[in-house]
Order: sequence, then C-alpha cells, then structure tokens
Amino acid sequence: MIKKAVIPAAGFGTRFLPATKAQPKEMLPIVDTPVIQYVVQECVDSGIEDILIISGKGKRSIEDHFDRNFELEKRINEREDEFWYNQIKHLEELANIHYVRQKELNGLGDAIYHARHHCGNEPFAVLLGDTILDAVIPVTQQLIDIYDQYNSTVIAVERVSKDKVNRYGIVGGNMISDRITELNEMVEKPEIGKAPSNLAIAGRYILTPEIFKAIEKTSRGKGNEIQLTDALRIILAQEKIMSYTIEGKRYDIGNKIDFLKTTVEFALKRDEFREPFTEYLKDLVKKL
Ligand code: G1P
Repeated sequence: MIKKAVIPAAGFGTRFLPATKAQPKEMLPIVDTPVIQYVVQECVDSGIEDILIISGKGKRSIEDHFDRNFELEKRINEREDEFWYNQIKHLEELANIHYVRQKELNGLGDAIYHARHHCGNEPFAVLLGDTILDAVIPVTQQLIDIYDQYNSTVIAVERVSKDKVNRYGIVGGNMISDRITELNEMVEKPEIGKAPSNLAIAGRYILTPEIFKAIEKTSRGKGNEIQLTDALRIILAQEKIMSYTIEGKRYDIGNKIDFLKTTVEFALKRDEFREPFTEYLKDLVKKL
C-alpha cells in the first residue's frame, strides 16, 4: 500500500524567467489554481494524504498556500461568502503536508534523497511539482495499481516524437502488454538517435526505499547533477522496474508554450468560462 508521496519543488525554474525570479514555478496559476495544488490534489485523489514537499530557497509561498490564513478566513466569513469560505477551508485541509529544504540544487536524485527520513522503509509515490497530468483515473492511482500487481518500482511514461527524446529520461525494455514494459535500459536525456525507444519518463514514479542506497552510489551525470534516472539504473541491476504508459494528458508547466496551452485548455474545462471564452477564441482565430 502506498501511503506517502514526495513532490520535488526546489528547482530554479530558469525556463520560466522572469516570472520565476522571485516566485516558485510551482505557484504559477493555471486559470486560478497554482500548479502544485493540482499535483497535491492528484495525491489526494489517489488515496495519499501524507505528502512531503522538497522545498528550497524562495519557495516559502508554497508553504503559505497550504497553511491556514485566519485573517482571510475571518474576512470571507464576515462577508458570508460561503463558496469561497469552503474553498479556502478545503485547500487548508487538503492533505497532511510536510516540508524539507534542499539547500543546494544538486539534481532530482539528490532532491529525492532528502525524503529518506520521511519515507523510511516504505515505498512511495513521486510527483514532479511542475507537471500536471489530466486523467479520468489519477495517474498516481494508475501507477499504484501496477505497483500492487508487480510489487516493484513503476515509472510513468508517454511516447514522444523522436526529435524530443533529448528532453527526457528515456526507457527501453520488453513490452509485456500494451502499456507495460519490463525495463532493461534507462538513460537521462539521450542524444537524438541514441535513445533506446521513444518512451519518455512522464514525471510520476512509485519508488521503493532501495532508491536511497542507489542514490548514495550515483555519481553526477547529465548537467553535472545527481540524476534520479541514473539511480534507477542501479536498481535495475538488482530488481525489476516496470514502466507504464499513462492514460491521460501531460502538461509540462515549466515551459512557456505548454503553460499557455494548458491555461487555454483548463479554462475551457470550467463551466463559468467555457462559453464566453470559446466565443472569444473563435473571434480571435477569425482575425489571425
Ligand atoms: C526530469 C527527469 C526526466 C523526466 C522529466 C519529466 O527532468 O530527470 O527523466 O523525463 O523530469 O518532466 P527535468 O525536466 O527536471 O530536467
């Protein structure tokens, strides 16, 4: 049973400057909700309420976002705005969130290593804090179901076009079914033409506690950082790792064009915006 989740959210967000100079990329709003709230909601919808956020310099607004704000509660209560009062209370009570700070940015593997005391001897989910996955069954729940079946590390993947393999961790192996592959290769951001497949790591994982020892043995890799993909390759030499092609759509909020697309798509999903926003977009397209 997976009871804990880790959300790494310490990165600089250099791909989103200048917005991320003084605020975390995880707090960028999609319509009116910060990206990280969607990620925390995915944990909760997957039955996980014990969440560790790997935080860092300049990330304090993430803590404030999930904390109580008595003044705001009081103000909204006085106005008898029941809708927003309930929304704010819901947000404040969403999950049991803990924080640990990564003091130096040494890569995703190092970020995950900061979760070793919190996770102890239990398997846990990892959800990257700048990726939203829109799915009927939450993607973390999909991975938990595969973990329950194989009792091994599970990595969410999606197919990407061959010219994009150098942006992701890429896995290779033997297909067991339509969506499940037993891995025999993993490489972080391979050069185009050298990737074992076009199955890209999609920002969600179920890891076993063995990962912490593997990270200790991992030397610096791509970008001179301790890469989670390299630590997972050490696990691969000892244990099975399965990849699972997710059912759902991935939105990488760390890059600007995807952020814009996500904003438009998520606005169109909202009842209060669908009609007026569709009208606006149709008019706009006519003029293009
Ligand atoms: C990280 C992982 C990579 C994965 C990607 C998904 O890279 O290292 O394996 O494919 O997230 O978004 P980053 O985007 O942090 O460079």
